[in-house]
Amino acid sequence: ESIALWGGRFAGGPADALTELSRSTQFDWRLAKYDIAGSRAHARGLAKAGLLTNEELDGMLDALTRLDGDVASGTFVPGPGDEDVHTALERGLLERAGDHLGGKLRAGRSRNDQIATLIRMYLRDEARIIGGKLLDVVAALVDQAAAAGDSVMPGRTHMQHAQPVLVAHQLLAHAWPMLRDIDRLIDWDKRASLSPYGSGALAGNTLNMDPQAIAGDLGFAGVTENSIDGTAARDTTAEFSFIMAQIGIDLSRISEEIIIWNTKEFGYLMLDDSFSTGSSIMPQKKNPDIAELARGKAGRVIGDLTGLLATLKGLPLAYDRDLQEDKEPVFDQIDTFDVLLPAVSGMIATMRLDYGRMAELAPQGFSLATDIAEWLVRQGVPFREAHEISGSCVRTCEDRGIELWDLADDDLAAIDPRLTPDVHEILSVEGSVNARSGAGGTAPARVHEQLVGARESLHRY
Ligand code: ARG
Repeated sequence: ESIALWGGRFAGGPADALTELSRSTQFDWRLAKYDIAGSRAHARGLAKAGLLTNEELDGMLDALTRLDGDVASGTFVPGPGDEDVHTALERGLLERAGDHLGGKLRAGRSRNDQIATLIRMYLRDEARIIGGKLLDVVAALVDQAAAAGDSVMPGRTHMQHAQPVLVAHQLLAHAWPMLRDIDRLIDWDKRASLSPYGSGALAGNTLNMDPQAIAGDLGFAGVTENSIDGTAARDTTAEFSFIMAQIGIDLSRISEEIIIWNTKEFGYLMLDDSFSTGSSIMPQKKNPDIAELARGKAGRVIGDLTGLLATLKGLPLAYDRDLQEDKEPVFDQIDTFDVLLPAVSGMIATMRLDYGRMAELAPQGFSLATDIAEWLVRQGVPFREAHEISGSCVRTCEDRGIELWDLADDDLAAIDPRLTPDVHEILSVEGSVNARSGAGGTAPARVHEQLVGARESLHRY
């Protein structure tokens, strides 16, 4: 038997079409335990305000505890006539506490301040879970970076060979954005940790409730400053959703590299059998499906964010029913990462890099040309000229189908007399990476510091 929350001024029940449209229990039921926690805090608030006797409070809390248990065990579930999680749980409470006592809980609160509070509670819990799973991805990257030691690979810009870099440097370049995502979640939590409970429908409540005490009960640091804002704002949801979208993008970018590195042409890595898939027709295939799903799901979680932002745009204050549409986008992001993150961290932890292949390619594509130019600069040649001279070296090599280190002393002298035989000393990948010893550079000493820093960051959380 379903209940309506607003029988008084209506002559009849809602049309079936309205009931079908209105129902949100199929997605908001996951908030049930938060709703019950809110109800317990609210009941204590009512008792403090003298609106429930101690005996009534005990009865109410007992009924809520039983309801909580029945929700957890699946004994109590929403029915087809329950509009949303709040309505369903009110029915559950009335069934357990009786109409007289159960009917007292709704005083001094509205579904508007309830839902605004529940979504924050839920997202704050999920942020911790997702942050933890993202840290596993970072840990996998850091371990791979440590295992790579001082191995080198081609560093690229525009997908072209640019300058050699340490493999560890490249891997850690994917770890730092993820650590910033964790920082974002922690910073976001400061804004999410204010409770809208007590805002009522929009204007606050008249029943002398103590929102601060309820906020404390529910794990919040404080109370929202403005009851209209408390019930109408969803920027904390949108900001959470942006962080999810950014995590999707960061996972997608490492995935794209893994997909390319896993090709025959690159041959940089082998995925573990347990983290790759085969083909139903081509027996030789081993596909990077996890990386592709990560790349694909990034599009999906970006869509969740843009859909939510579009919903919020143009909404007048305070509560509008449009706001019910704030949940599915973030729930979808959370569910997506729940399964995606463990797969990505497993894939990265178990992939085997071919350091020999990467090292072989590191100096190719004239990736040491900048080193020639900078060597000339150290001899006092202006960089504009040095760039030209090094460019001539590349052109000569290209014409003759050789690499820069194949140029003989007289070839060099013919290009420019300032290219003395000493230049050969820097025409090695080792010389090139060692030279990039400024802060954040790819010199092994700097990369080791970076690795230590990344590990420290990991352990800080
Ligand atoms: N199910 C609603 C939501 O998710 C709860 C608030 C409903 N409030 C209202 N006045 N209809 O936003």
